[in-house]
Amino acid sequence: MTELLTRGQGGVAVGVGRTALLVAAARAVETHRPDALARDPLAEHFVRAAAAADRADPADWPVRPGQVPGGDADPLWGRLGRYFGLRTRALDDHLLRSARELGVRQVVLLGAGLDTRAYRLDWPAGCVVHELDTEPVLAFKQQVLDGTGARPAAERRTVAADLRGDWAAALAATGFDPALPTAWLAEGLLLYLPAEAERRLVARLDGLSAPGSTLAYEVKEVDAESPAIRSSPVYAAARERLGIDLVALFATGSRPDSAAELAARGWTVTVRSPYEFTALRGRGPLPEPDDALAANRWVFAERPGAVGPAA
Ligand SMILES: C[S@@+](CC[C@H](N)C(=O)[O-])C[C@H]1O[C@@H](n2cnc3c(N)ncnc32)[C@H](O)[C@@H]1O
Repeated sequence: MTELLTRGQGGVAVGVGRTALLVAAARAVETHRPDALARDPLAEHFVRAAAAADRADPADWPVRPGQVPGGDADPLWGRLGRYFGLRTRALDDHLLRSARELGVRQVVLLGAGLDTRAYRLDWPAGCVVHELDTEPVLAFKQQVLDGTGARPAAERRTVAADLRGDWAAALAATGFDPALPTAWLAEGLLLYLPAEAERRLVARLDGLSAPGSTLAYEVKEVDAESPAIRSSPVYAAARERLGIDLVALFATGSRPDSAAELAARGWTVTVRSPYEFTALRGRGPLPEPDDALAANRWVFAERPGAVGPAA
């Protein structure tokens, strides 16, 4: 297991792979809040397994609200953690709407990390969930999931691929069918991809999307290198307390306008602020001074031509 944490500098203990563990810990904490926005009972298993394999780290990461120093006021596990809880819920709702109301049965999680939606969402019959991430992240995830004895609620297929390159052939090899509508999700991924890789990815998934497909993803509307982002309390806390320099991991330079690109390709696109979902749910992070999260946007797109729910 220890080797799986860092394999090839790509496991969940190092680099961008470690951000998947950060989100899992946040989901574990969220799961046990009395007013949880989303519940993921498997999330804590990833954190515990990583801690057991590498005692020094992340042994002191919380998996319960009572273990968060400062509670909701803590910039890291309180505020950023709750942000991840809200994002999880908004994207759960989006995927379930794609499946139940639009009739999509093929789901692709790009940069799936330790996302357990294949297990925890109430999918209609016949759904297939493809999970793409790096091989070491998927191997760690599989080992932990196998240890829990959990069974997926949809057919689950994993695809080891570098999403900066050409991943379509590997996806096709697991039975992905471009003739069927697809619900694509890139949760917490595009921030880490170079601009050119994001453009390629968007063009690729556009080419693989039958009418009725949907896509949701997260972006930041400002340059991640701006001083306001770098010095913001949430990212400073992640850097100083966890050694995860999210800002350094974010891709630099000006970002592509993928929402405009998708609209030009015929998709219907809606760009939302996370704070709209805080208002909708009556809980979640609120704007504050030096707010790194204010620049985050959640984008929801649909390719017209929905097939409707399967009979
Ligand atoms: C912040 S985590 C988000 C994970 C998951 N979507 C979630 O929200 O729980 C980012 C994930 O993207 C993956 N990732 C980043 N760059 C990648 C790349 N070039 N190819 C494949 N996966 C990548 C990382 O390994 C990591 O699991």
